[in-house]
Amino acid sequence: VISAKLVSFFIATTICFFTVAFLSLAKSTDTTILLIGGSISFATAFILIYYTFEFLIFREINKIYDVIGKVKKKHLRDFQASAIDVKNSDNPLRSIKQEIVSYVSRKELEIDKLKKLEAYRREFVADVSHELKTPIFAAQGYILTLLDGAVDDDKVKYKFLRKAAKSLNSLDALVQDLLTLSQLESGGIIMKKDYFNMYHLALEALDQLEDKALKKQIKTEIIAPDKDLIVYADYNRIMQVMLNLISNAIKYNREAGKVTITLDNLEKTVRVTVSDTGIGISAEHIDRIFERFYRVDKSRSKKQGGTGLGLSIVKHILENHKTKIKVSSIVGEGTSFSFKLKKRKEDTEKGKEDEQ
Ligand SMILES: Nc1ncnc2c1ncn2[C@@H]1O[C@H](COP(=O)(O)OP(=O)(O)OP(=O)(O)O)[C@@H](O)[C@H]1O
Ligand SMILES: [Mg+2]
Repeated sequence: VISAKLVSFFIATTICFFTVAFLSLAKSTDTTILLIGGSISFATAFILIYYTFEFLIFREINKIYDVIGKVKKKHLRDFQASAIDVKNSDNPLRSIKQEIVSYVSRKELEIDKLKKLEAYRREFVADVSHELKTPIFAAQGYILTLLDGAVDDDKVKYKFLRKAAKSLNSLDALVQDLLTLSQLESGGIIMKKDYFNMYHLALEALDQLEDKALKKQIKTEIIAPDKDLIVYADYNRIMQVMLNLISNAIKYNREAGKVTITLDNLEKTVRVTVSDTGIGISAEHIDRIFERFYRVDKSRSKKQGGTGLGLSIVKHILENHKTKIKVSSIVGEGTSFSFKLKKRKEDTEKGKEDEQ
């Protein structure tokens, strides 16, 4: 415990002790002289030391503390006034040290976060440029070949034009996905929630992907014990989720495989599960498939026109619906993705009444 008064008291007492001891050595000194000498030396030493400490050292320390306080308030809006009150503290030096240490560690955390974000941004820019390059180069190649003379050959002409158009379509799809993702991340997309029938949405999604499934002779099925499943969500966004999940289930399936959509009527929610009989995802990849641009098998996914953005969009849309996506998979057997959507209030109440 250090305070100006305490320190001054101890030093003044020591000086007083030595003064009295020194005076007592002289033969002519009596008790009165010793008392007066002792008192004067104590009082002078105490006053001088106390003022030196209080005004030169502690005042300066308090100034430093005020500066730290101001810096903290300026930089950390969520800063809560420190419990340590330097001015009234027993040991201002220790308090200052604690303040500085806590401030520095907070700043270090902030810097670490910024560094991670910066690395993420750099990686993202590299990924985007890489992904954009592929379709642009392909379309450019076809068009240049046409200009170089292939345009005169009727057979080749249409083939190359079709290929160039396909590359430009995938470029368009990529840019659309990127825009959606960045809007979802920045909170720029507001979910337009409404009531709709989840069974009908699943039917419509399967219908849209029917051609893709037929090409691989994949059978599709919806298992829903209850067809009147009204959920509260953004229809178009949930459609986007379903199209992504079903097209993955088709893309990463075997020939003549199966895609099943199961709709479970739970107490307050409807659980949607999309499962396939495909190649599966191994444990080392399963946690990463929701990252942007992440593909388990890059060459295979690319051949099928994948950019690795589908599942990150799915994840963001579902997060915006305050729900999470779960995945389970067995390599070589298949994968299933599931999520829950809130049901209509009356239905959950009706469900409760039925139970009673
Ligand atoms: N049903 C599935 N079975 C096996 N692997 C899957 C399945 N769904 C996704 N994956 C793996 O996860 C990766 C990421 O999927 P995601 O949908 O994000 O990207 P993509 O399908 O490659 O491209 P995109 O959806 O943008 O066209 C895929 O590349 C694939 O390796
Ligand atoms: Mg996909």
